[in-house]
Amino acid sequence: MLPYGRQSISEDDIQAVLDVLRSDWLTTGPKVAEFEEALAARVGAKYAVAFSSGTAALHGAAFVAGLKPGDEAITAPLTFAATANCVLYQGACPVFADVSPDTLNLDPNRLAERITTKTRAVLPVDYAGHPADLDPILALAEHHGLTVIEDACHALGAEYTGRRTGGIAHMSVFSFHPVKHVATGEGGMVTTNRPDLAESLRRFRNHGISTDAGQRQASGRWHYEVVLLGFNYRLNDVACALGLSQLKKLEANLARRRQIAARYTAAFCNLRGVVVPSVRSNVNPAWHLYPIRVNPVLLNTDRAHVFRALRAENIGVNVHYIPVHMHPYYRDRFGYKGGEYPVAEAAYEQLISLPMFHGMTDADVEDVIHAVGKVATAFAEQSNSVGQFVGTTVPTPEMITEDLV
Ligand SMILES: Cc1ncc(COP(=O)(O)O)c(C=O)c1O
Repeated sequence: MLPYGRQSISEDDIQAVLDVLRSDWLTTGPKVAEFEEALAARVGAKYAVAFSSGTAALHGAAFVAGLKPGDEAITAPLTFAATANCVLYQGACPVFADVSPDTLNLDPNRLAERITTKTRAVLPVDYAGHPADLDPILALAEHHGLTVIEDACHALGAEYTGRRTGGIAHMSVFSFHPVKHVATGEGGMVTTNRPDLAESLRRFRNHGISTDAGQRQASGRWHYEVVLLGFNYRLNDVACALGLSQLKKLEANLARRRQIAARYTAAFCNLRGVVVPSVRSNVNPAWHLYPIRVNPVLLNTDRAHVFRALRAENIGVNVHYIPVHMHPYYRDRFGYKGGEYPVAEAAYEQLISLPMFHGMTDADVEDVIHAVGKVATAFAEQSNSVGQFVGTTVPTPEMITEDLV
């Protein structure tokens, strides 16, 4: 089965990790600062603070944005649950605003409608690696005094109006989960141009302690102070050495993903019943995912049947995402019934993520193209002869078996 995403680890990555294993530092040592500096430079931000995961990084960003009980933060429903969960970790309330029909990113018009006197932050998501529409979002944030935390976990290396994601919002959050552009196993980063935010993020990830072990060792002092309630969210030197080595290959990784996306789009743009992802003219996406939408009327079936047919062709398709408000925890806690965010919910019913990763061979890409063409054509032809929609619309858990990160 060709997976939808996977890491590429080469000999130099392995060597970088071995070097750290032979060094004096396993946890917060020199590789953390090196990785932070290299990532900040790559995205055009002044500061970068490494965290033990993208989720921990989101939590850190929610903390330093000052989110607290009674506050609201607005995000898109079509995202991984961590984007909204980080608001709950702070005791604040996540509020959703629907997505734009083309990019499936937070729609600034819907966002404007959801802002209240309780709103403190906005978390736009760069879905699939296509940057969110940050300029109107930042303008709204400026007007209402909100902090913008960009969930850029899909978008390392993407560009928005010629600028790199990571240096535009008040804070941007990246993940180094193995399916992402840079893999450290688990890992994350917050980038920002504000020194005060960077300073608080560093404390928050290290128990709220005002200095780190390296600073204490250098100064020869034992004294430290816990100045806020933090966590152990540190990323270690082993992971950062891997991240640094992987970061050197980011350009090649992005170039390959863009090549694959171009090939897919050329192959599918005229395929009946298949809608390719749209790309706005002012962005250069990072293509973490390549999500197609399947039209149930033209194919006379639902997404679940197409999904299963592609799996039967050994194409490890996946679905990103079940909208967050439709998960049982959110339904039970906030009373969502479905129907609240029609654009995201309708898109969810049609989305299928095709394999998209740096290490795909040309033959892999052609296999996917062949399988999608075969399956879509078979359903479309059947639809011509049957002439009515026969699918079920509710996917069962066994249809979505992989982790949905
Ligand atoms: C959009 C988005 N936000 C947040 C996360 C959480 O990142 P991590 O898995 O590194 O905790 C992910 C998943 O990796 C994600 O895709």
